[in-house]
Amino acid sequence: MSEQPRQYLAIRPRRMRKNTFSRRLMQEHVLTTNDLIYPVFVLEGENREEEVASMPGVWRQSVDKLLETAAECVALGIPALALFPVVDQQYKSLTADEAWNPQGLVPRTVRALKAAYPELGIITDVALDPYTTHGQDGVIDDTGYVLNDETVAILVKQALCHAEAGADVVAPSDMMDGRIGAIRDALEEAGHIYTNILAYSAKYASAFYGPFRDAVGSSANLGKSNKYNYQMDPANSDEALREVALDLEEGADMVMVKPGMPYLDIVRRVKQEFGVPTYAYQVSGEYAMLKAASQNGWLDEKAVVMEAMLGFKRAGADGILTYYAMDIARWLRDSA
Ligand code: PBG
Repeated sequence: MSEQPRQYLAIRPRRMRKNTFSRRLMQEHVLTTNDLIYPVFVLEGENREEEVASMPGVWRQSVDKLLETAAECVALGIPALALFPVVDQQYKSLTADEAWNPQGLVPRTVRALKAAYPELGIITDVALDPYTTHGQDGVIDDTGYVLNDETVAILVKQALCHAEAGADVVAPSDMMDGRIGAIRDALEEAGHIYTNILAYSAKYASAFYGPFRDAVGSSANLGKSNKYNYQMDPANSDEALREVALDLEEGADMVMVKPGMPYLDIVRRVKQEFGVPTYAYQVSGEYAMLKAASQNGWLDEKAVVMEAMLGFKRAGADGILTYYAMDIARWLRDSA
């Protein structure tokens, strides 16, 4: 059969891209402030603010200052904050007892935030790394190995302490086995039946967490050790689905994939397979990359950040934890 060259192009994808109206009509995904969770760092004291060196624009704040940030978040329509403590060295120990002290920094901050802004969702991090002298997410044996069941017992106390202080969502980021089920049982038993669990289900052992560890001051404690025996290997993706399945069976309401941009395939697979509320964490190292390149004038900050957000939405994320949340909310507001 002879191939006659076609005379006309029946299909011209560029037709739909020619005008603004048709580009708008065929837009498949849209980012709104409803998609944003803002991670914040709280420290002891009053009237204190310290910028994180490797994360320009991100601050560690004392509670009074954090309340001002929270007010701005409410005004911008950001649904929730994820709270991370910067714990003074004197409160760190081998057994992380400070993690479940009802008068500790996190419960005090949660109470202050919930009293001032009851409608603002407060998500707390459940993991022991801010409280251990060695910077691991759990308690260790003589060889430095992180013990699973012993750690889970402490995580349960920590989650209960947060729920009692009024946290709306507890978010275990430790990657111990069975922690979601143990925390869910304890919450139910204590009558906290409406406390949500956001499970860091597919949390990878990532070098992109570097700036965060500086921010909370755990990197020096961690030293040269790593988290390979509990966080996931970046080489794996089926394993992520098994982790998500377990956390859902054990009672998670929401699941998370972390880091974000290098793991969008995982976000997609999780959303497709389970169809549950799925979140992605654009972590500290991702923020640092975008910020540094923007500050050098190498990237257009707003354009790349908004493009990255659409990547998360396309992959299937229902929401994104991002240090850019306040900037994004302002950009969205100003372009509305
Ligand atoms: C610790 C925790 C980490 C992050 C959130 N919770 C660091 C780690 O696992 O070492 C990283 C967040 C970020 O890099 O932005 N449980």
